[in-house]
Amino acid sequence: MLVVIHPNKEVGSNQAARIVADQVHRKPDSVLGLSTGNTPLATYTELIRMHRDDGLDFSNVTTFNLDEYYGLPREHPQSFYAQIHKNFLDHVNVRPDRTHIPDGGSKDIAMACFDYEAAIRDADGIDLQILGIGRTGHIGFNEPTSSLASRTRLKTLSDETINDNSKITGDIPQVAITMGIGTILEAKQILLLAFGEAKAKAVAKAIEGPISSSCSASALQMHRDVRFILDEEAATELRHRSYYDRVIEQTTKYAPELLGIAND
Ligand code: PGA
Repeated sequence: MLVVIHPNKEVGSNQAARIVADQVHRKPDSVLGLSTGNTPLATYTELIRMHRDDGLDFSNVTTFNLDEYYGLPREHPQSFYAQIHKNFLDHVNVRPDRTHIPDGGSKDIAMACFDYEAAIRDADGIDLQILGIGRTGHIGFNEPTSSLASRTRLKTLSDETINDNSKITGDIPQVAITMGIGTILEAKQILLLAFGEAKAKAVAKAIEGPISSSCSASALQMHRDVRFILDEEAATELRHRSYYDRVIEQTTKYAPELLGIAND
């Protein structure tokens, strides 16, 4: 687990974009796990810039979104389908038939979830999953008490999540289809982005708390290749802050390859 604390959100977001770009350069047919919400927006903006100015090519990339509200038509401006198109997919050259978003309009929820898991398997799994974290500690919409082994399914949103998300987009449904924690943990590499003081408590629980369904992001402690990309504000509740800085310093010195492009 690598905890990288950046001076601000802009630097962290740009680093996340460089990690994604590096993944796509190394493996042009990468499978990317995308998330919505405010947190990854600046990363998507930088990836769009790299596509436009540097020729970053997504034509062989496949994408899977983490989650989608249940009961909103795709064309609804608050749907995650609409948001990920507006903020990322419409501006890069990912082929439409290679983008996947849970079907929040499906009448057969169990089948939609089963099909989503099957599509991820058929794509040989997710190479790089981008995550945000909710104030409840959720990843995807895996609210507290979600099974740490959960798969894609319908999930009822917590009051806190409904409040937070409706502040951004107005009234939202109370249920969503989300990849499970078990699904997320199968991604080969995970980047969790968290910026701002409102996330500090959830971030500390995720990184330093016990592994518990009370904070679904704490399950990431069991993943072998996870990187937390934080700004100073999101890092304020970490008890071992100086240790994380020393890890980066020493790794940069002795094994920069372990940091990937973090060293450039
Ligand atoms: P946010 O949401 O990026 O809008 O803060 C994160 C999340 O709920 O996972």
